[in-house]
Amino acid sequence: PDGTVEIPVTVNVLYKGATQNISDAQIQSQIAALNADYNQLYSVPPIFDSLRASVGIHFALKSVVRKSTTKSSWSPNDAMKKSASGGIDATAPDSVLNIWVVGAMTGGVIGYAQFPGGAAATDGVVIAYDCFGTIGTATAPFNVGRTATHEIGHWLNLRHIWGDATCGDDLVADTPLHNAANFGCPAYPHLSTCTGTPVEMTMNYMDYTDDACMAMFTKGQKARMLTTFLPGGGRYNF
Ligand code: ARG
Ligand code: ZN
Ligand code: CA
Repeated sequence: PDGTVEIPVTVNVLYKGATQNISDAQIQSQIAALNADYNQLYSVPPIFDSLRASVGIHFALKSVVRKSTTKSSWSPNDAMKKSASGGIDATAPDSVLNIWVVGAMTGGVIGYAQFPGGAAATDGVVIAYDCFGTIGTATAPFNVGRTATHEIGHWLNLRHIWGDATCGDDLVADTPLHNAANFGCPAYPHLSTCTGTPVEMTMNYMDYTDDACMAMFTKGQKARMLTTFLPGGGRYNF
C-alpha cells in the first residue's frame, strides 16, 4: 500500500464494577498512543537511528461497545470474544480491528493477539484495563499504551524480537539476535551472547520491556507488517 493505511477500531469493554468501565477519554488516549507509535520516530541509541521506521498506519476509533460482567478473571482463550461465553461478539472483524479490554487475565497475562490467518470471529487483540491507554486506570509500568502497540504488532504478523527461543529468529533481517525476552528498562548497551554478540534492541516494541523504555519498530518490521495488507496477505480487507 502507498502512504497511510487506515484501520477502523472497535473497542469492546468488559467491566466488573465501575472502575473497570474505562472512560471514552482513556480509550481515545490509547488511539492517540497508537497513532504516535506507528507514525513517529523517537530518540534511540545512535546505532539504531537508521533502522527506525514510521510505519504509516493510522488508527481511527469507530465504536465502543460496553458490557457489564461478573467475571473478574478471563483465561486467554477467547471467551471474551463471544457473547455465548459472557463476552462481546466482534464487530465486522474482516474490516475492523477489534480490541477487547478486560479486568484481568489468568496467569498475569496483560495482553494477547491473534495473528493474521485465524478465524474472523476471534480476530483482534485483548488487553487488561490497567495496561490500556495513558490515563485513568492505566498503571505503571504499562501506562504508555504500548501493550496495544505490541499486540497490534502481532496482529500484523510480527514475532517477538527474541523469536520465542534462545537466540531465536523473528523472521525480520534488521533486528538483532536476542538471547531471550528483556524486562524492565535495561541499561544500554545490553549485549547479546548470540552469534556476533550484537547489542540487543531492548527498546523495540516487540521485546517485553516497560512501556516507557520502548521506542521503535524497524524498517524490516514495517515491511513485514505492510505485507499483510497486500493481496494474499491476512489483512487485505483493511
Ligand atoms: N506479554 C504480552 C505479550 O506477549 C505483552 C507485553 C507488552 N509489554 C509492554 N511493555 N506493554 O503479547
Ligand atoms: Zn507478545
Ligand atoms: Ca532478526
